[in-house]
Amino acid sequence: MRGVVDPAPDPLDDGGIGGVLVEVAILGEPHGPLIVVTWADGTNAHGHLAHGLSIAGAAAVPRRIATLPGVTNTIGLDADQVLSTTRAVRKRLDFDRPVPADLIRECVDLALQAPTGSNVMSMQFIIVTDPAKRQEIGRIYREIFAKYKASAGYPANRTVPDEKLQAQNVRIADSADYLGDHMGDAPVLVIACNTGPDRASAARGMSNVLPGAWSFMLAARARGLGTAWTSMHLTREQEVADLLGIPYDTVAQAVLTPLAYTKGTDFKPAKRPPAENFMHWDTW
Ligand SMILES: Cc1cc2nc3c(=O)[nH]c(=O)nc-3n(C[C@H](O)[C@H](O)[C@H](O)COP(=O)(O)O)c2cc1C
Repeated sequence: MRGVVDPAPDPLDDGGIGGVLVEVAILGEPHGPLIVVTWADGTNAHGHLAHGLSIAGAAAVPRRIATLPGVTNTIGLDADQVLSTTRAVRKRLDFDRPVPADLIRECVDLALQAPTGSNVMSMQFIIVTDPAKRQEIGRIYREIFAKYKASAGYPANRTVPDEKLQAQNVRIADSADYLGDHMGDAPVLVIACNTGPDRASAARGMSNVLPGAWSFMLAARARGLGTAWTSMHLTREQEVADLLGIPYDTVAQAVLTPLAYTKGTDFKPAKRPPAENFMHWDTW
């Protein structure tokens, strides 16, 4: 069932985003009826009838609905748009806008839908909001980044024959420099970890957290949040573990990402070589 709502100003708009409610749809998805509310600017919210949300209630839901159970706060991108425009965001992270805890919880909820070996949920997410801890992680990251910048692996130190690719590498280097200086300024830092009975098992089972970590970033993008996958701090992992009280003997860190609202949401697909360059049909 799907109904278009007369484009009238949303009386319950909290003034935060502004806009017009255009559609309320009830979709019979596998876990029971899902109400989807869409506003003219493409933002949408959805919630399960099972969570006690009525149709009238859904229509009245302001877009900042993160406090309602079972309701999400996405910006209206479809799956392919999310997959093709989730960039490593650095310069366009909004350091001044707080990220609601419920929004982060939604991203973790979705991350937990990722596959894990034998269905063992060994991933954990450390959400760092404490300013002093963020700055300290930022300091460690900055120091490691300075060494990386002098290395051959730094994108601007690599020369590739393709001019466009070279220009892309120089842009990435410039963007990475920015994060090198500002990691600790992001309102939230997230470290995805893998746990195990001992250090070796935790480190060996890293593939149990990587799909979830990427899902977290996709879920963040779907909500107007930006992330950037980094692993550089792992050369000083124990220092970060001590800072955050992570038991180093049984928890291996995998990924560190800043998390913040993005300045604008109009990210583009990156220029990549054609799929055929990376495919082997039936034999290598
Ligand atoms: C394993 C891995 C490690 C990465 N480490 C860093 C890092 O330490 N610092 C950083 O700024 N970006 C890092 N990145 C992000 C890449 O630089 C980025 O994904 C790549 O340049 C392509 O850009 P895009 O993701 O925006 O398309 C890392 C990405 C991956 C997958």
